[in-house]
Amino acid sequence: MATTELIDLAVQASKNAYVPYSHFPIGAALKTKSGKIYQGCNIENASFGLTNCGERTAIFKAISEGYRDLEEIAIYGETQKPISPCGACRQSLSEYETKQQQPIPVYFMGAKGSIIRTESIKDLLPFLFDGSLL
Ligand code: THU
Repeated sequence: MATTELIDLAVQASKNAYVPYSHFPIGAALKTKSGKIYQGCNIENASFGLTNCGERTAIFKAISEGYRDLEEIAIYGETQKPISPCGACRQSLSEYETKQQQPIPVYFMGAKGSIIRTESIKDLLPFLFDGSLL
């Protein structure tokens, strides 16, 4: 699958965002090594702290379906600059990158269409906290 297709799926996922408070829709499309695609959007709540980010919605869908080998993830938001995943989502992705010992590239894109690619979660989260520290 081409990167542009994965990004298109992230754009599509953002349409389902439940964002009555922020009006800031985010979509994510996560591909597993076996080729499954999990889409996610942000889901807000009147109790703001319960909000789930688009990236973590996609991750939780994949993990709960039994897919832990994550190949790559694309993220889309209607932002001027490409939307960068928050710290919680980086930490969440890092769990699986650490376990599989293979980098998970991240593509992020905003409203203007330019795409940033990072090679791994480690690039986005240096000195990350992982299970080896427990
Ligand atoms: N949000 C995401 O979905 N992903 C991120 O990486 C950053 C923030 C959502 C959470 C909330 O619904 C809205 O964007 C504003 O913070």
